Amino acid sequence: MKIIIINGPNLNLLGKREPEVYGNENFEDYFNKLSNEFPFITLDYYQSNIEGELINKLQEIGFDYDGIILNAAAYTHTSIGIGDAVKAIKTPVIEVHISNTFSRETFRHQSYISPNAKGIIVGFGLESYRLAIQSFLK
Ligand code: DQA
Repeated sequence: MKIIIINGPNLNLLGKREPEVYGNENFEDYFNKLSNEFPFITLDYYQSNIEGELINKLQEIGFDYDGIILNAAAYTHTSIGIGDAVKAIKTPVIEVHISNTFSRETFRHQSYISPNAKGIIVGFGLESYRLAIQSFLK
């Protein structure tokens, strides 16, 4: 089974960025833990701050992988292009968010990913990604 985690803008700063919202752990450390925990799957990771690069990656792997775990970060709330890419590809996408976007500003309540996502996992901290992997394994 091949699963990829795709993170959008500013998530390369996890551990340093607003730790009261996003926690103290950087994503590379967390990703290494996940890889060790699920050695029987191919788990890949991609991060970009650039909308078009995220769309390119979704198109590149979206007919090949078994699952995509997508945290499009701020683009979740703005990007019709990423939403359309999620709709265009065959691989199921689970939308994840570290924080509970619904308990934050109203502009974070809107998602262009959700209508075409297989499911949504929101607000469990980095644990959101682990829950998404577990859901693909079920
Ligand atoms: C986020 C929530 C978004 O609203 C925000 O822009 C992010 C991170 C989260 O994982 O909680 O950058 O996607």
